Amino acid sequence: MASYLQIADDEKGHELDLFCIPRHYENDLDKVIIPHGLIMDRTERLARDIIQDMGGHHIVALCVLKGGYKFFADLLDYIKALNQNSDKSVPLTVDFIRVKSYCNDKSTNSVKVIGGDELSNLRGKNVLIVEDIVETGRTMQTLLSLLGECHPKMVKVVSLLVKRTPRSSGYRPDYIGFEVPDAFLVGYALDYNEYFRDLSHICILNDGAKEKYKVINHKERPLRCNGVQGESFVSPFD
Ligand code: IMP
Ligand code: MG
Repeated sequence: MASYLQIADDEKGHELDLFCIPRHYENDLDKVIIPHGLIMDRTERLARDIIQDMGGHHIVALCVLKGGYKFFADLLDYIKALNQNSDKSVPLTVDFIRVKSYCNDKSTNSVKVIGGDELSNLRGKNVLIVEDIVETGRTMQTLLSLLGECHPKMVKVVSLLVKRTPRSSGYRPDYIGFEVPDAFLVGYALDYNEYFRDLSHICILNDGAKEKYKVINHKERPLRCNGVQGESFVSPFD
């Protein structure tokens, strides 16, 4: 079973004013739960574990957008550093897929794949899926069954975070950075309705912010920009 760094349920976290937090988010967060430096240290070790297991063959690293983009970039930098500084090296190519399953702080029942390259390119390849967080596991299970249809040679999944939650389907990734409490987390590319990706540390969102950045489902009213009906998105900064 994958080893991970456990963040306990009663973890108090760190006061916000001990860290650099963008001013526009200062009132929206409870605590810093995983500082950026710790994310980087753990990611460095994940890179080593992955290369030890998957090394020797060409790897296609598949980034699950948007939440996975920071972790993906940093993980690949560490893998590149290993490639540059050891006798053995592993050719690495990248691919991207976009998946959306969340509205506000709730997982919706539909997992939408809304973009990315032709998955059939992955036939016969060793694929490493790079994800930000696994909660119910539904997103990853959907993605894995989609990929299975393309007959890759091997598929491994690395997720920076796994949430301890009764909503879990029991799915566990092959590599896990941290196991975290059942709270809504933002930062390091994890978002709440697209906000907080521009925050370096992983933090717990407070209840006021859930209200402030809420998306209103309003089936009758068209969206201002693209005319698509459904979610109405009003920036709290406008
Ligand atoms: P799952 O399908 O329930 O496993 O949810 C996985 C997806 O939901 C992740 O890829 C995230 O995009 C999103 N998600 C789940 N929990 C959180 C969270 O605490 N903060 C931000 N996004 C989350
Ligand atoms: Mg994600």
